[in-house]
Amino acid sequence: MQYGEAVSSQGPAPPPDGSAAPQPSALRLEGLRRSFREGEQLHEVLQGVELDVGYGEFVALLGPSGSGKSTLLNLIAGIDVPDAGGVDVDGVALHLLSERDRTLFRRDRMGFVFQFFNLIPTLTVEENLLLPLELAGRTGPEDRDRAYALLDEVGLGDRRTSWPDRLSGGEQQRVALARAVAHRPALILADEPTGNLDRRTGERVLDLLVRLVGEVGTTLVMVTHSEGAAARAGRLLDLVDGRLVERPRTGGGAGAETGAETGVQPEGAALPSKG
Ligand SMILES: Nc1ncnc2c1ncn2[C@@H]1O[C@H](COP(=O)(O)OP(=O)(O)OP(=O)(O)O)[C@@H](O)[C@H]1O
Ligand SMILES: [Mg+2]
Repeated sequence: MQYGEAVSSQGPAPPPDGSAAPQPSALRLEGLRRSFREGEQLHEVLQGVELDVGYGEFVALLGPSGSGKSTLLNLIAGIDVPDAGGVDVDGVALHLLSERDRTLFRRDRMGFVFQFFNLIPTLTVEENLLLPLELAGRTGPEDRDRAYALLDEVGLGDRRTSWPDRLSGGEQQRVALARAVAHRPALILADEPTGNLDRRTGERVLDLLVRLVGEVGTTLVMVTHSEGAAARAGRLLDLVDGRLVERPRTGGGAGAETGAETGVQPEGAALPSKG
């Protein structure tokens, strides 16, 4: 694998196929700290975040505005780097990679859904859909066919040549979902994916997201303000005072069947030593 062989802690894990038993640690955060300086003030946003997410799990991340949810997603995505601590995605220690390698890894192994601006307005639906595949160098007919099948599945197979601004908000978000999973990422990060939609449309988009994620067998970390949306997740985590706190749950949402692990590590728990 091109990105940071030397820093891969467990080696690339086999891609989850949905039927296999879940493997540990699609995502592992250890002692993650991030602060921002504004003038004289140091704003300590993340103060030692710990998390362990297994393959195929669906985790919802909640917390008040300004608590650091997007900051945390940026660190997991490798868009930003922590002041201290580690981010392992699919067995690769992202925080030890160069910026270029983080970008390559992100293109290859992660998918994204945001609240706004999901689609590039100057590209058609089809071009938007295929972009991550092209960036990942996967332009074979098999990959394209799967992308088109996903577009059919989200009900927009007949809108390939449409411009994003001709689609409704819910339709745009459905294209974004197909695009996020088309390259079979190890991890999907969603930041309020239904926040901009009316409740009914939001529920439909969420249903679709849960189904697609289940089919591809990928791991989903979703930031949301909606308790209803969060209830669909197998695990709920609150970002409180710069740390993640797991909510005890009875019964389960999607992915609950996979998630017996506690996820939040005890103080001082260590990552496996880097190879
Ligand atoms: N680049 C930055 N420079 C300075 N401060 C920042 C930066 N990025 C984030 N912050 C601050 O960190 C805090 C957390 O921001 P973040 O965007 O992570 O919150 P959030 O939990 O996603 O909130 P929301 O629910 O409103 O999206 C905020 O106080 C914000 O002002
Ligand atoms: Mg945010």
